Formats: sequence, C-alpha cells, structure tokens
Amino acid sequence: MILELSKSNLKESRTKESIIRAFVECRAKTLLLFQDMDEVTFRCQAHPDFSPVGWHLGHIAYTESLWILERTASLPCLFPQYRKLYAADGLPKNQRVKLPSLEETRYYLDIVRDKVLYYMEKTNSEQQERLWRFLLQHESQHSETISFVLELMRNQKSDTQKENFWHLSYSSSPLLSNPLNEMIQIRAGEFEMGSNSLDALDNERSAHKVYLDTYSIDRYPITCKQYRTFMEAGGYKNPQWWSKGGWQWLQSEQATKPLYWEDNPAWYNNPVWGVSWYEAEAYAKFVGKRLPTEAEWEKAASWDEKSNCRRIYPWGDKQATSEHCNHNNIHSQTTAVNAYPLGQSAYGLYDTLGNVWEWTASWFDGYQGFQHYPYKGFSQVYFDNQHKVLKGGSWATRPWALRSSFRNWYHPNVRQIFAGFRCAA
Ligand code: AVJ
Ligand code: FE
Repeated sequence: MILELSKSNLKESRTKESIIRAFVECRAKTLLLFQDMDEVTFRCQAHPDFSPVGWHLGHIAYTESLWILERTASLPCLFPQYRKLYAADGLPKNQRVKLPSLEETRYYLDIVRDKVLYYMEKTNSEQQERLWRFLLQHESQHSETISFVLELMRNQKSDTQKENFWHLSYSSSPLLSNPLNEMIQIRAGEFEMGSNSLDALDNERSAHKVYLDTYSIDRYPITCKQYRTFMEAGGYKNPQWWSKGGWQWLQSEQATKPLYWEDNPAWYNNPVWGVSWYEAEAYAKFVGKRLPTEAEWEKAASWDEKSNCRRIYPWGDKQATSEHCNHNNIHSQTTAVNAYPLGQSAYGLYDTLGNVWEWTASWFDGYQGFQHYPYKGFSQVYFDNQHKVLKGGSWATRPWALRSSFRNWYHPNVRQIFAGFRCAA
C-alpha cells in the first residue's frame, strides 16, 4: 500500500519535473528571439494582420498568469494595468503598438514565472497537467508567430540588405536516389486520426478511425526548383491554373512570386515557402495533381500499416531531435527536403514535420464530439469554413507543438506564415 503510494508519487513528481523543465526550456528559446532587439523592432507592426513581436511576448506572460495564477490558484491579477492590452480579445491589432519597453515586459514575464513555478512545485500535477501542457504549446505557438513576424520585417527591407543577411551554405543535400517528384501510393484502408494524449489540444481530440481509398502523395514537399517551373511557365499570369477565389486573390495581391522567394540555385532543393493556399492550389493544378486532404496527409505521415498503429511522430514515438527534422529554430531557415532521412514516415515520406507547414485541402473543423478547451475562442470560433488546415510545423516550430496530429489553421490568403505544400493524386 505504502509502496504503491510512493510509486505513484514518484511518477507524479517525474511528470511535474519534466513539464517544469520544458517550461524553462521553452522560455529560454522565446527570449533568444529578443536578444539584442531594439525598441523599434519590438513594437513595429509589420503587417495589419499581425501584432508587434513585443505584444506576443507580453501576451505569453498574461496568458500564463490568467490560467495558472488567477483561474487555478485563485490569486488576484498581477499587473491589472496590462489586462486590456494583452488579453486575446482586448484591443484590435493596430492598437497593440503602445507597449511597455522590452525591459519592463521581461520583468512582467519573470514575476509571473516566479509565482507560477512556486505554485507548480507545491501542487499535485494530476489535475493540472492538461492545462500546463496547453500553456507550453500556447507559448510555443506565439514563439513561432514572433519568428515569422521578424522574418517578415527582414523581408520588407531592401533586397541588398537581404542579400547580406542570407547565408547560402545550407543546401548540401545527400545524393538523391529518388527523384524529388516521386509519389508514394497509400493503400486503401482505415487509420487512426487525431489524438487522445494529454498534450492533444481540443481540436485534435478525439482519436477516431477514418477509412480512405487508395491515393498517392508526394514523397517530398514541393521544392523551389519545382515551383520555379510554374513561375517560368507564366503560372502567375494564366487564369487556367487558378480557382475563382484564387484568381481574385491574385488580382488583389498582384503577386508574381512567393513572399519569401529567393531566386538562387542554393535554395532549389529547399521547399518553397511563403505561399498562400491559393498558390498551392494553382501549382497542384498546373502539375495535374491536387492538395491532399488533412486525413490523407495525416495517414501518410503517421500510420504504420505493418503494425496497424498510429505513430506520434513520423519516425516513431520519440520526441523530435535535431536528427529528425528542421524545427525549433535550429537553422533559422529552410533546409533541403531530403536532408533528414531519419525523419521519414513508415510510408517513406520525407519532411512531414518541420521545415515548412503544409497546406491541405481541408477546412478547419472540430472532430465528432468536439469539446472546447480551455476556452471557446481557442479553436471553435475558427470552425467557420474560412480557415484551411496546415500540418507538420516549420523550422520555427517548438518541439512541444510538433507532431503528426497537430493542426494549424489560417485564412487561405495568408502568406506570412512559413507554409509550403506537397501534392496528392
Ligand atoms: C493556431 C497559430 C492560428 O496564433 O492565432 C495562440 C494559436 N491561439 N493563442 C494563433 C493561438 C491563441 C493560433 N494559431
Ligand atoms: Fe494566444
């Protein structure tokens, strides 16, 4: 009896220690993005659809404080003067530029974090674990947004300045035995989609069986070189490849190339990125293919036909390391699509996790029996048939938000996120 009790205590304290360690690691990575940052960059609104990076930093502290200190520990609001500014539904994005300094914001983060760690240490983690894992992923997601807002600002600077920033070294890819346009056939059958794990977000639940007919899917994401053939063939000028919505988007955007396009052979084997869903759709039509549905993507990335089991990651159930895929700002840029053979899925797909997000044909929606957590505005308000699902994560995705069941969503016209795609047939 006593032995049983201490065994479960031990397990509980191990879980807690590992979550606390992850909180600390995640924060260190977040703060790295702000190293040597000037106050102008900190509060610059690079684009009307995105808040300044300094806002995201304050919002991370606010959210942690709200859910752990106020809602769980029933402590009074720390820094009530920040509530309106940092609440998700507080101010419109263009009013999020009057921000405390970087130093004051870091002070806010530190004070909240001190109290949070004190509370975590003395609380039993069993009832709290889901919330803690949610918050870890919340910071992870804002950390990625900070990365792409910074990239966007760099991209807006003049081309010459950009040239100085880019280093061209990272295309040394292993020799290819398979052509980059190779497709893999996935046999008809059932697989398990979604997740019941404690770290699964509300929109990933519950795990459920899905039957799919036979289909084929690209082994690699579409590379810059492949996408270049579309550009050279006048793809951006020919309505033939574009849907009605896509052509409308193109007219209003006047795009002639992806947002983060660099016409440099050093990037040819890297995935194309900075494309809207419409550009992905047009390219797929140009090559006589289509975008995969979310289910097709997830089966190809996570299903192991031999053991009839779902894997958490394409390579198995062990969390990503720098050997498996390009994530967590390891390179802070894209890498060749064939650079990570150890990251292959059971079906042999490369680069499903990390490098670039991949647009899918599916609208974001809740699975059967959806229950919102921890608040309706996290996922449910986006079940509006106006957001497309993206899968797989990018080079700026933290390990805690990187798995095959993870779902991201954006309007089909968004190009600022680190998104590319692969095709299906
Ligand atoms: C899922 C990345 C679109 O950043 O708006 C962060 C994640 N939700 N805080 C976003 C999120 C609430 C969300 N995305
Ligand atoms: Fe948030």
